[in-house]
Amino acid sequence: MASPLLSISNASKTYGSSRALIEARLEILPGQVHALMGENGAGKSTLIKILAGVVAPDSAQIALSGQPVTIHSPQDAFNLGLRFIHQELNIVPQLSAAENIFVSLPYPRRAGFLVNWAKLHADAEQVLAQLGIHHIDPRQQAARLSPGDQMLIKIASAFWGAERAATSVYVMDEPTAALTGDETERLFKVIRELQNKGCGVLYVTHRMREVFEICDMVTVMRDGRVVETRPIASTTPSDLIRLMTGRDLEQAYPPRTLPVEQAVTLDVRDLSTRQISGIHFQLHAGEILGVAGLTGAGRSELLAALIGAERRLTHDVLLDGAPLPPLDPTRAWERGFAYVPEERRTQGLMLSRSIQDNITLPHLQRISRGGVFLNRASEKRISTEMGKSVQLKSTGAEQITRQLSGGNQQKVLFARALVQTPRVLLLDEPTRGVDVGAKYDIYTLIRQISGRGAAVIVASSDLGELLGLCDRVLVMRKRRQSALVDATGMTAQELLTLCYDEAG
Ligand SMILES: Nc1ncnc2c1ncn2[C@@H]1O[C@H](COP(=O)(O)OP(=O)(O)OP(=O)(O)O)[C@@H](O)[C@H]1O
Ligand SMILES: [Mg+2]
Repeated sequence: MASPLLSISNASKTYGSSRALIEARLEILPGQVHALMGENGAGKSTLIKILAGVVAPDSAQIALSGQPVTIHSPQDAFNLGLRFIHQELNIVPQLSAAENIFVSLPYPRRAGFLVNWAKLHADAEQVLAQLGIHHIDPRQQAARLSPGDQMLIKIASAFWGAERAATSVYVMDEPTAALTGDETERLFKVIRELQNKGCGVLYVTHRMREVFEICDMVTVMRDGRVVETRPIASTTPSDLIRLMTGRDLEQAYPPRTLPVEQAVTLDVRDLSTRQISGIHFQLHAGEILGVAGLTGAGRSELLAALIGAERRLTHDVLLDGAPLPPLDPTRAWERGFAYVPEERRTQGLMLSRSIQDNITLPHLQRISRGGVFLNRASEKRISTEMGKSVQLKSTGAEQITRQLSGGNQQKVLFARALVQTPRVLLLDEPTRGVDVGAKYDIYTLIRQISGRGAAVIVASSDLGELLGLCDRVLVMRKRRQSALVDATGMTAQELLTLCYDEAG
């Protein structure tokens, strides 16, 4: 048997009293695409950050091709041939796309300190082209790129020099979370090329489909420990769910219990912004409406228009039968709208503040009017309760949000939206980055909220999720509403067909 390209054993890490990693071990063979799976907070990113020299472990033995090595800094990891795509988008927004690609690399400078811009841009174009990406101008400021394009920049950065390095290990922590289907396919193509060259790949994802499509080995972690490593060929999705959660999850979607009420909560007669137009639908109390569409079709923009984050060109909307004046996001929360945005780190959370602050933030307006929060103690009680209801894994309501695992940060946003039963709940990709067990819990919560009479709108790129969860689905195509269909009895294939141009 080939000796492993990379092995790590006896890896442990403690944060205060919480044990993030307990004697974890992992081996990656040449040419292997190795999946690393586990629930939110299981320790995946911690293990990766130790390999990357970003986190100092309490203990760890690391070897490359059988030779023991020490990794004390990202530079050490780089020199050893390890390349990383981290879960967080560490983009420097003021810099250009090209500068972001090379920001962490020892880039050759001309005349000592002057950067050779022409070469920098040409190199950036070359590494992007290798990924089949031609739509990003390397000179463009990173802040102006979409979350998906920013991720592509980080991915391109990791692949720089890949054609020269023979035996590297590529470590990817949820690289596809913000990517479209096409972009994911292109990434997979590059991964297969690396595999053919004998490189090793460690691949973290919560998407079962991806594991079975490109990985040949899987390691499952639970509560900081590695519970099992096994070949994909002899593993089923339900095996993986059982290993990750310790329980069997029979159905992916909780059953619908309460019938939809007759009262119309939201009557959108005509809504348009500079981005989208032709929006008109009625949403009943207790109803869950899905929003489907290809990437760029205007799903997120529809929710942004409803919450008032985009300036409206037309606005004919009734809430509970009364005309609703145009809102901005703050006023929308006051009128009973709640919103969970797509990109949690930049659009929603204050990472340096506590979980409690993040959960109660948009609700504080109501304190003075004798609303829910009377003092810090009740704020804390409610934050703790809400944290429990989304199965938040934390040391308590006072923990700083930055310290949470990626999926648990997403759950904080969710908890915020659920503090009071909203009249209208808007959810943009509610389960992105969330593990399978918590997904089911979030679906159950959405059902409960709608059962209490809230009107819910869910935008999602997961067609199965839309059909499993929603009563009806609104289809966006080319930034216009193109269909409004009953979800019952519809297949994902039929819904996908609606998302594409009918004329085509
Ligand atoms: N800087 C930190 N301070 C305190 N605790 C931390 C810190 N970083 C991580 N942790 C804790 O370590 C545990 C493991 O987190 P980690 O980020 O490795 O999870 P993960 O498996 O990557 O989860 P996800 O799928 O949500 O990304 C979590 O309980 C997390 O709260
Ligand atoms: Mg993680």
